[in-house]
Amino acid sequence: MKLWGGRFETGPSEIFERFSNSLHFDKRLIGADVEGSQAFARSLHRAGVLTAEECTQIVDAFDSILRDAEADPNFFDGATDEDVHSFVIGKLGARVGALAGKIHTGRSRNEQVSLDTRLWLRGECDKSRGWLVALMSALLDLAGKYPNAVIPGYTHLRRAQPVLWPHYILALFEMFARDFDRFGEARRRVNVMPLGSGALAGSGFPHDREAIARDLGFDSITLNSMDVSADRDWALDYVYAATVAMIHLSRLSEDWILYSSEEFGWMELGDGVTSGSSLMPQKKNPDSLELIRGKSGRVVGSLNSLLVTMKGLPMTYNRDMQEDKEPLFDAADQVNGCLEMAAAVAESVVLREQVPFDAAEASWVVATDLAEALARNGTAFHSAHQIVGRLVLESVRNGKRPADWNAEALAAFAPEFTPDVARLLDPREGMKTREILGGTGPATVAKALLTARERLAAMTA
Ligand code: ARG
Repeated sequence: MKLWGGRFETGPSEIFERFSNSLHFDKRLIGADVEGSQAFARSLHRAGVLTAEECTQIVDAFDSILRDAEADPNFFDGATDEDVHSFVIGKLGARVGALAGKIHTGRSRNEQVSLDTRLWLRGECDKSRGWLVALMSALLDLAGKYPNAVIPGYTHLRRAQPVLWPHYILALFEMFARDFDRFGEARRRVNVMPLGSGALAGSGFPHDREAIARDLGFDSITLNSMDVSADRDWALDYVYAATVAMIHLSRLSEDWILYSSEEFGWMELGDGVTSGSSLMPQKKNPDSLELIRGKSGRVVGSLNSLLVTMKGLPMTYNRDMQEDKEPLFDAADQVNGCLEMAAAVAESVVLREQVPFDAAEASWVVATDLAEALARNGTAFHSAHQIVGRLVLESVRNGKRPADWNAEALAAFAPEFTPDVARLLDPREGMKTREILGGTGPATVAKALLTARERLAAMTA
């Protein structure tokens, strides 16, 4: 169905139609288009444009269109319509005849595309938040399985200080909790009702816009019709939230690809989330995590694409804006798919506790604990740092690990090492000095894990 044409002597060329039609991708908005059009029909009735009977006829016809679309996988086959909005009106015409000509009374596709995309995206925000909850829940289970495991924490990918395994997993939890928040904020900005704006100047018919908003479950209405036609900030907000979540997923993936490698050897990924090699029989490759890491680049690209599309567009609507949909749809598909995949990977992880503990013991991750103990005993921290630095240098030269030292040997190395300091040669001991809110102290981490479970429960409430 063509929604325009009177002003043209000839129709659009085949090449232009092929070039500009968007039905092949915006068809996924059909549910939203029908729901929005039904609410618009009810509003046209309230505004006195449609009789009660006409309104019912139109609303029922829309219901049957949606039923057919859901039942028939070939529903769109052979359609040559410009976009989903034109397609749906065509289907309406086939059901209600000339009456279909009234549904566009004072309505522009500029507001309709904003409405439809917002309705659809509102659902995607909820999906993304749901998958985040699933991932966070899997992470908390993974933390709780090994409550006392000690791993070396890294900076610069060099062993830095010992931390508890749940402390590390809770760091990931914090990232995804912020993402949950960001998707909530995106939803708040998406959930604003644009209908009644016309093409750019506002509708010429007396719609009760608040009533349309209530009808469709929107929190509020837009306040400027020109802004409606020009605005895609709400799509950018969602794609930004998706991008940050993908970056978090990518960093998790990178960590776990490393930790499950033979070089680290701490972690075993489940058979169900790994692949073999067509040539090398021994291989067990972390493809699920590599794909997540790979897809993160794609979502960063979508954000960039949308930003560049919007930059420099004159007010208000321009057809360039049709290019918003593919990156938006793809960002939603990728982030939701990757969150689901990451939760399954987290459920499959087995930690070989002894390996990271041995890695912590074999290195000098306790050096900071020792220096801080000297400082607590009255040595200026700079001197304490120097003394422990020399201890590490001497040990590295002679192939000594912290466990190869004891109280007497330490005292002989430097008088500042009083006997009580020697217990900090054990990585488990130093962590007990870090019972500060947000730190890796064992009691603090146990409490943080409980609090995280409560926070997660509140997210789903
Ligand atoms: N398919 C168009 C889009 O996605 C719908 C709006 C068309 N409006 C117009 N004036 N051509 O943006």
